[in-house]
Amino acid sequence: MRKIDIFDTTLRDGEQSAGINLNTGEKLEIARQLDKLGVTIIEAGFPASSPGDFEAVQRIANTVQNTIVTGLSRTTQGDIDAAWEALRDAAQPHIHIFLATSPIHMRDKLMKTPDEVVELAVNAVKYAKKKFPLVQWSAEDAFRSDRDYLVRIINEVIEAGADVINVPDTVGYASPAEYGALFKFLKENVKGVEKVKLSAHCHNDLGMATANTIAAIENGADQIEGTINGIGERAGNVAIEEVAVALHIRKDIYGFETGINLKEIKRTSQLVSQLTGVIIQPNKAVVGKNAFAHESGIHQDGMLKNPETYEIITPELIGENPIPLALGKHSGRHAFKARAISMGFELSDEKLNAAFRDFKKLADRKKEITEEDLLVLFTDQQTHDTETPVYKLDEVKVQYIEANVPTATIEITAPNGESVRKSSTGAGAVEAIFNTLEELVQGEVHILDYRVSSVGKGRDALGEAVINLSYDGHDSIGRDVAQDVLEASAKAYLNAINRQIINGKVREIETMR
Ligand code: KIV
Ligand code: ZN
Repeated sequence: MRKIDIFDTTLRDGEQSAGINLNTGEKLEIARQLDKLGVTIIEAGFPASSPGDFEAVQRIANTVQNTIVTGLSRTTQGDIDAAWEALRDAAQPHIHIFLATSPIHMRDKLMKTPDEVVELAVNAVKYAKKKFPLVQWSAEDAFRSDRDYLVRIINEVIEAGADVINVPDTVGYASPAEYGALFKFLKENVKGVEKVKLSAHCHNDLGMATANTIAAIENGADQIEGTINGIGERAGNVAIEEVAVALHIRKDIYGFETGINLKEIKRTSQLVSQLTGVIIQPNKAVVGKNAFAHESGIHQDGMLKNPETYEIITPELIGENPIPLALGKHSGRHAFKARAISMGFELSDEKLNAAFRDFKKLADRKKEITEEDLLVLFTDQQTHDTETPVYKLDEVKVQYIEANVPTATIEITAPNGESVRKSSTGAGAVEAIFNTLEELVQGEVHILDYRVSSVGKGRDALGEAVINLSYDGHDSIGRDVAQDVLEASAKAYLNAINRQIINGKVREIETMR
């Protein structure tokens, strides 16, 4: 079977989507999980774009050992040097350089002639090759580029030393037949194509990203690029889990293998959704919560007689295992630690103790602590940034002093350690909380989106609040859970603000350099 390399860009193209803002701890946690999932390459960020991205790429490169780690770079020497500084200690340093090649991008965005673009690309690859053993070059908006020009620039970039050539459908415009034909054409016309790997990178603007990616593989692509849950710019990138499962389930017609450990798909998908705050649509292929639900009587009847009547993928295939026993308030630290390990968390003693304290508090109020609750508790500790002082919620209460006028009273500890308490009203309890918090945090806040959902099932399930807000002009997604949805909402609000504070701190450090 031909092996297809899986290039994961959840932490770069995925993180680029509106409102997603992961801190370094969260990126590291996702990278560790991607390593377990068995992707070939993790694109950990764009080192020259911000100190936060630089730090995340460097930490991931120094931590992840089995998977190649790469960073994005423009064609400038400054970008390539920054990528090298971030990646030099990686097990196999890899750089991803991109430059647009379509007429519209060259003329209106880059304001360069086609000849100038060739020169920039060639010089960048030659420069990068002096440092990096592995250099990938991307022709941004390749699909809308002139075919002969594409062949010319790829020929020259291969000559300059590129190891992988990526051919993106940057705006998700291609049809499967056209995108497949482009790979066939490049295979037949590029000189030295046998020395490099060709990579497919599909966006999902017309909902054809999975079909396009598979068409590319059938026509010679050796690598595919995508994200978990298909997150990414606009309508997103191709969802890696969809491609991996499609190739597995239909190996009878495709005959390719990806090296993806399918049993880690569910866990990876949940982690990415939880940390990015991007909810998975219920009917999403492979990982949606209804992907294995059979509702109609006829379907249920068929399933009982023979599951294969309606089920082509089993939940077990992607790691949706029978739920293990729930823990409760009598469970000890030993069982708690054992569960953390079995769920794949490696927590320091300090973090495990903190998670255990949260567990005990929760167990006082909730009869059974489920796998989903534990996932939230462990992930919170694993990704907690303990170094930066941020806002902390100490108390939130809502009273109806006057009929129909809720008043929220909130006490927080500010980043300078001071305790502050304020009250404010609103048209509803949530608005009263947000109004009070806006007075407490210093900065201008606009709420862009706000959702509450339950973690797991049952009337005592934890409530999860996800909020998308803009704080001093920067979009940020915050998320938190609590048994009381009002408390979860207040914590999610502060979580979004704190993410900006952490980023702001990084920006301050950069200006001091
Ligand atoms: O979509 C795209 O063209 C990209 C490039 C940077 C590879 O993400
Ligand atoms: Zn892209």
